Amino acid sequence: MKIEAKNLSKIYIQGDKEIEALKDVTLSIEEGKFTAVIGPSGSGKSTLLRALAALEAPTSGSVIYDGRDIYAMSEGERAALRRRSIGTVYQDYSLLPTLTALENICTPCLMDGKKPDADYVLSLCKTLGIFDRVHHLPGEMSGGEQQRTAVARALVNRPSILFADEPTGNLDKTTAAELLELLLVAKAEYKQTLLMVTHDPDIAAMADVVIRMENGSGYCM
Ligand SMILES: Nc1ncnc2c1ncn2[C@@H]1O[C@H](COP(=O)(O)OP(=O)(O)O)[C@@H](O)[C@H]1O
Ligand SMILES: [Mg+2]
Repeated sequence: MKIEAKNLSKIYIQGDKEIEALKDVTLSIEEGKFTAVIGPSGSGKSTLLRALAALEAPTSGSVIYDGRDIYAMSEGERAALRRRSIGTVYQDYSLLPTLTALENICTPCLMDGKKPDADYVLSLCKTLGIFDRVHHLPGEMSGGEQQRTAVARALVNRPSILFADEPTGNLDKTTAAELLELLLVAKAEYKQTLLMVTHDPDIAAMADVVIRMENGSGYCM
């Protein structure tokens, strides 16, 4: 899947103030690669990720998936694209607390009206090192295990791209390094494109491509 952002601008109105979170950002995300998005707090990283991940329309400009403008699609088409082609992981794991890890992992599949592929789910859990934890509730798991569960959930529909917004932000350094390693193993195994927002220069150093956000503008480094 080829993903391009063309002249993205995003303006938030807060009271009588306008915040220009994205200023004419044009870039393309290379298929199969690991792209890191870095930059100071408030520079527009999460806004860029949401725009690219079909979650929030820009004020102007377009996001093109394989030649199709995703914000020109119907809401239903865009929702199907999100369910089938896009995985997302956030800093706070966002697991449903009353469901077991396995139930959390299978949720996107069930929401898409599909029966989970048992062999694939098993393989995901093994790859991410949570196989013996899958019948636990999130509250019974460590932060690292919860985040690995969230990654498995993001991958369950075999998305072509995984978006992760500071996925290691709540983890200690060792656990963060483990998570990153597992993400890269999963990426190689299941062949997604990975776009990750990160504060961590060690993580950015491992990326194939680095985009630096600065005050709403994006630069490829
Ligand atoms: N929903 C929103 N409403 C108003 N302002 C927002 C909203 N989301 C983000 N912003 C503002 O847009 C700018 C960029 O935010 P964000 O993309 O979250 O930056 P980052 O992820 O780099 O910290 C900031 O000034 C932030 O306060
Ligand atoms: Mg952010």
